[in-house]
Amino acid sequence: MQKGSIGIFDSGYGGLTILEEIRNLLPDYDYIYLGDNARAPYGIRSFELIHKFTLEAVNYLFKQDCPLVILACNTASAKALRTIQQKDLPIIAPENRVLGVIRPTIEVLGSITKTGHIGVFGTPGTISSNAYNEEILRFYPDYKTFGQSCPMFVPLVEYGESDGEGADFFVKKYVANLLCQSSNIDTLILGCTHYPLLQKKIRQYVPDNINIISQGSIVAKSLKKYLIRHPEIEMRIEKGSNIKYLTTENAVKFNELASVFIGHKTHASKVILT
Ligand code: DGL
Repeated sequence: MQKGSIGIFDSGYGGLTILEEIRNLLPDYDYIYLGDNARAPYGIRSFELIHKFTLEAVNYLFKQDCPLVILACNTASAKALRTIQQKDLPIIAPENRVLGVIRPTIEVLGSITKTGHIGVFGTPGTISSNAYNEEILRFYPDYKTFGQSCPMFVPLVEYGESDGEGADFFVKKYVANLLCQSSNIDTLILGCTHYPLLQKKIRQYVPDNINIISQGSIVAKSLKKYLIRHPEIEMRIEKGSNIKYLTTENAVKFNELASVFIGHKTHASKVILT
């Protein structure tokens, strides 16, 4: 049997924050990271386009022998995952699996919140999709979800401005907009894989009694459990501790910014998705 890698996909760099945590917890597997940097950000795009782009990426990773792909992007998880799992996968590769980041994040809420009032920061696409609200209600029918779209966060992070004064302005603004929706919020989900880079600043403006959840370690633990539950997928993944970085943009540019996200060098190659 031909073994392959775990595919990790994001619109750009954000998924690197998930990949790092996954590799810390599961260092033995082979991984391929694919960032669709040429077409990022996804957060402002329509359902149709996000589905099209995400499906192209998934297909590409399947062709690279990935039996399992993680959409390490909330926007793609919110807007494309269900269609891919239910409609596309049975046709293109019924033996392969695609997982997202929203469900594992929601699964841990029960052990964190006391008030059941959950705040979510996300891209305009994630918030307008209502995916967090719907998925939270499925697990916890009496919880209330308060979404806050943060359109400036991804550009701030991608332009290396997460520590700058501009970031303070927008963090303050989005925190205030969220907190005026409910005074009982005790848990805030950073529902975009770029946002961990702003976590320190967000913490400064969010009251201490509110837990801030970032997704990397949650997704990593959930993946570990998934692989134990699904030996038929696990046995198809190579254990050579290899990592390959692919981008649809310029590889030199990718390497420069990727190091900001993960604190070490990458050697990316450019690929074209169709
Ligand atoms: N990192 C992606 C997410 O988790 C969003 C970035 C983008 O807008 O492309 O939603």
